[in-house]
Amino acid sequence: MTDRYCVFGNPVTHSKSPAIHAAFAAELGDDIDYTAIEAPLEDFAGAWQRFIAEGGRGANVTVPFKEQAYRLCDSLSERARRAGAVNTLVLGDEGLTHGDTTDGVGLVGDLTNHGVTLAGARVLVLGAGGAVRGVLEPLLAAGPASVLVANRTAEKAAALATDFQDLGVISGGGFADVDGQYDLVINGTSASLAGDLPPLPDDLFAEGATAYDMMYGAEPTVFLRWATARGARPIDGLGMLVGQAAESYRQWRGMRPDTAPVLAELRRGL
Ligand code: ATR
Repeated sequence: MTDRYCVFGNPVTHSKSPAIHAAFAAELGDDIDYTAIEAPLEDFAGAWQRFIAEGGRGANVTVPFKEQAYRLCDSLSERARRAGAVNTLVLGDEGLTHGDTTDGVGLVGDLTNHGVTLAGARVLVLGAGGAVRGVLEPLLAAGPASVLVANRTAEKAAALATDFQDLGVISGGGFADVDGQYDLVINGTSASLAGDLPPLPDDLFAEGATAYDMMYGAEPTVFLRWATARGARPIDGLGMLVGQAAESYRQWRGMRPDTAPVLAELRRGL
C-alpha cells in the first residue's frame, strides 16, 4: 500500500502542502499519497490516531493544531521542545510518534539560498508569537552576532529571549527598544494580515541589509514594501514554506527534495 501523509489544519482547504509534496514525490520518483485533512478543533489526537489506523505514516500540522500535536508526541526534537509546538509528525516503526518543527530549517535554508550570511549578522526579529518561537533555535545555531526580538507586547519578547539565552546572544523588548542598525530584519508578526506595520525607526537597515517576511502573497507585504523603500533587499516567506516541507519530507522518506523547481512553480501560481 502507498504510504499516506497529510497536512492537518482547520481550515485547511487553501493549504499548499499537498501540491508541494506531490511535486517533491514526482521529482524524486517517489510514491506517496498526501492529502489535506480538516481535523476537529477539540480532538486532534483522535484525528491522528484515525489517520494512523488508515495507513498514515506522517503528517504536517498547521494552525490551530501545533500545540495539540506537541502534546501527543512520544518524543520530540530539541527545537520542537523549545518551540512548544510541532509542524511535523513522524510515525516510528514501533508505533510511537515523534514530533519536530521544521520552520526554522526552512527559514535558514531560504536565507542561505539567497546568499544571506547569518554568521556574525546583527539580526532583528519582529514578533514573539508561535511563528517566532518555532524558528529561533536554528536561527541562533547559524551563529548571528546578536538577535533582538522586538514585540508589540514587550514582556512576551523578553520572556522569549530568556527561554533561548543559552543558545546565543539574544535579548527581547518592545519596538521602542529597536536601536542601531541590522543586517537582517525578520518580520514574524501577523501585522501584515491587517495591513499594519510595526512602528520602527527609518534607519534600522545596515548597508546591504535583508528584510525577510515570513508571510508571502502575490504582492509584497506592507513590511517588504516599507523595507524596500529604505534600501533593504526584500525576501518573502514562500521559500521558507517550501523549505520546511522539504525537511519534513526528508524525515519521512529519507530523501531530500530539491526545493528550487517547486518554489519556482509555486511562485508562478501565486
Ligand atoms: P503566530 O503563530 O503567527 O506567531 P501569535 O502567536 O498569535 O501568532 O503571534 C502573533 C504575533 O504578531 C505576536 O507577536 C503579536 O504581537 P503581540 O504579542 O503584542 O500580540 C504580533 N502582532 C499581531 N498583530 C500585530 C500588529 N497589528 N502590530 C504589531 N504586532 C502584531
